[in-house]
Amino acid sequence: MTPWWQEAVLYQIYPRSFADSDGDGMGDLPGITSRLDYVRDLGVDGIWVSPFYLSPMNDAGYDVADYRRVDPVFGSTADADALLRRAHELGLKVLVDLVPNHTSSEHAWFQAALAAGPGSPERARYHFRDGQGRGGAQPPNRWRSVFGGPGWTRVVEPDGTPGQWYLHLFDVTQPDLNWEHPQVRAEFLDILRYWLDRGVDGFRVDVAHALVKAPGLPDYDDAPEAPLTAAGDERPPTHLAPMWDQDGVHEIYRSWRALLDSYGEPARILCAEAWVHPVERAMLYVRPDEMHQSFAFDFLDTPWRAADLREVIAHDRRALASVGAAPTWVLSNHDVVRTASRLGLPAGSPRPNGLGPRSSVRPDPGLGLRRARAAATLMLALPGAAYLYQGEELGLPDHLELPDEVRQDPVWVRTEHRELGRDGCRVPLPWVGDAPSLGFGPSERTWLPQPPEYAALAVDQQVGRPGSTLELYRRLLTLRREHGVGSAALTELTGYGDEVIAYRLDGRSGALAVVVNLGASGVELPGGSTLLVASDPLVAGRLPTDTAAWVLLAEAP
Ligand code: GLC
Ligand code: MG
Repeated sequence: MTPWWQEAVLYQIYPRSFADSDGDGMGDLPGITSRLDYVRDLGVDGIWVSPFYLSPMNDAGYDVADYRRVDPVFGSTADADALLRRAHELGLKVLVDLVPNHTSSEHAWFQAALAAGPGSPERARYHFRDGQGRGGAQPPNRWRSVFGGPGWTRVVEPDGTPGQWYLHLFDVTQPDLNWEHPQVRAEFLDILRYWLDRGVDGFRVDVAHALVKAPGLPDYDDAPEAPLTAAGDERPPTHLAPMWDQDGVHEIYRSWRALLDSYGEPARILCAEAWVHPVERAMLYVRPDEMHQSFAFDFLDTPWRAADLREVIAHDRRALASVGAAPTWVLSNHDVVRTASRLGLPAGSPRPNGLGPRSSVRPDPGLGLRRARAAATLMLALPGAAYLYQGEELGLPDHLELPDEVRQDPVWVRTEHRELGRDGCRVPLPWVGDAPSLGFGPSERTWLPQPPEYAALAVDQQVGRPGSTLELYRRLLTLRREHGVGSAALTELTGYGDEVIAYRLDGRSGALAVVVNLGASGVELPGGSTLLVASDPLVAGRLPTDTAAWVLLAEAP
């Protein structure tokens, strides 16, 4: 028996933008609960809910001020309990988000650290250092923030003098915790217990590769990102940077796994958000005594070219199998341009951090959607687990015309507007084509404006409509379950040429094949096979460009 999490499909809910129950323009927990039937009907196994904890919302809730409290904008603890109860009634697992690398600067620990001054035990839970140069006016080292600008900020000491610096790999309001400190370790075990006791089925672990820093915080200059192609991964290994993928993180995850295992069966799980390469390092997070899942971000980052995709899929599968794990596929989340926009860019162009009216590249929406549908048809055929991001099942593009004044991602400010950031993929969902806020909530209000093209893509416009992206996802998820695709044996089908991806899948009931055509001319499906689903219609019986299909293979005579 394959454990549930090795073949599960989980649906990411971004609470701010899923459904608003009270009309304040911000999604909330009662909104999620009211729409869980939709998620069940989609055919997934569970949800991962992005942070809903008390937060000043400088990074949309990834800046947590209290890990055990629900932010009032999202509801109450009772609302969280109700969400869990309803999800479980519907047979859905619930993963919550854990943000262990940093707290909000409004967290009681950081406030205490500021008040207590240099050398205090309160400061030891974070990374406080004296500055360099005359009067300590220069940061302790050259580390940069992922969101732009320096990775250090200077504080004003309680006596009013310019003082020490603290490390923040993300926003200024997200001070990094010092994971060498036993209190930090104990506190997070306790936070895990708190949510496990409330009944959650697991955790998605935010920037899981960042918790431990190289001893002494050695200086480091960011290297420019090199591309990932079939010719080979030219990017320097992540762990060469002293703030990423340090060996010490694994001991932490082993202790968490032991705690989760103590809750018995069915397993409660951990899923790593670890942007780590090469996969020989990434796979260490899913060794048998560590996490259960880790997002295959290499797959998400691979250009829309058959040879590149085949290579990445094969490489990920091989590496993970060597530690007894299955891959966790993903195409989209709240940090990246939506698939239907991203795949509409020229293949091989670097993944942009946001797209807007003045971007140098503009996606071709028709092409992007066509490829996104083919990509989902490919992904959901791959054995292992998979994550969907709310709205990808509707084929939503990014909001490409967001006005500058409404942008909220700290990336936009910290890069001094060089990068647009992630707001475009975080726009409130359209539920009803002809309703205020497109059915997102009971009022006109939405915390980010919705683009006009979302009306035609609303859930009520797609439900039951043959050929809609929503019906494509439902069909794929039904077939995936029926045939046990998530735990099928996969073999590459040869003879299709370089521009086609083709696999045979031996699952619970017969043999299937998935064929994806990235070439210019139509492709013949396997002889004698029966078509089960195609991402777009066949043309003259052949699979056209940028289309994927699942077929039932004819029994061998
Ligand atoms: C992760 C989250 C992202 C957040 C960052 C800092 O990458 O997915 O949204 O900004 O961590 O917490
Ligand atoms: Mg609300």
